[in-house]
Amino acid sequence: MQTNDYDSFAEAYAAENESNFVNACYERPAVLALAGDVSGRAVLDAGCGAGPLTAALRERGATVTGLDISAEMISLARRRLGSDADLHVGDLGDPLPFADASFDVVTASLVLHYLEDWAPTLQEFRRVLRPGGRLIASVDHPIVAYTFRQPWPNYFTPASYTFTWTIGGHSAPMKFWRKSFGAMTGAFNDAGFRLSVISEPQPEPSARELFPDDFERQSSTPGFLFFLVELPPIGNEGERP
Ligand SMILES: C[S@@+](CC[C@H](N)C(=O)[O-])C[C@H]1O[C@@H](n2cnc3c(N)ncnc32)[C@H](O)[C@@H]1O
Repeated sequence: MQTNDYDSFAEAYAAENESNFVNACYERPAVLALAGDVSGRAVLDAGCGAGPLTAALRERGATVTGLDISAEMISLARRRLGSDADLHVGDLGDPLPFADASFDVVTASLVLHYLEDWAPTLQEFRRVLRPGGRLIASVDHPIVAYTFRQPWPNYFTPASYTFTWTIGGHSAPMKFWRKSFGAMTGAFNDAGFRLSVISEPQPEPSARELFPDDFERQSSTPGFLFFLVELPPIGNEGERP
């Protein structure tokens, strides 16, 4: 059976993601906080899904391009963002269909853990970013996910794992790739990014009332890990790896 087939449950996933605790009150606000002031910036939302982050970045004044492997998710993003939105169906494992140095910021929200090898993707992010450009990425927290939630015999051995995701009565098999924290930071460094912020943020305080149990759990155990990594500014680019 095909894994990571978001086409098969795109509507259900998008509806859930829109206003649930984990995406709307924890993950998305954290990415937006790391992105900071994006007004006037060109942003690539890589793995944009149905476009909730794309829309939020656009509301903050950015010009946003979205790319996702799922045609259904892109079609939902188009419905949200309008027919003239710059949206692409594409695989982050392939070369990106964008010119060199065309973006100031890349966001990769909850997508890198679908990729076995981050190197080609991070090289492409580097290519399409301008000098001084920033990449903001969120992933399953490696220590919480692989030593507590779904323990793995050897934390350091990269491996995939599969599970079935059921949302709104629709199920889809998912395949994620485990990577240690060191493998993640090493991949960013090897691709020429400097680690700027690694964060384990708290959920939005306003979520406490709406989702008391989720809030309690999330505010004591991180679910995701967030990275802000940067390219050197012009004139200080050093050797390209
Ligand atoms: C957990 S969803 C997150 C979507 C969006 N970033 C958000 O936060 O709403 C993961 C998304 O990554 C996309 N995806 C998975 N593997 C991908 C790949 N190799 N290339 C591009 N997109 C991919 C999926 O289709 C899905 O839309």
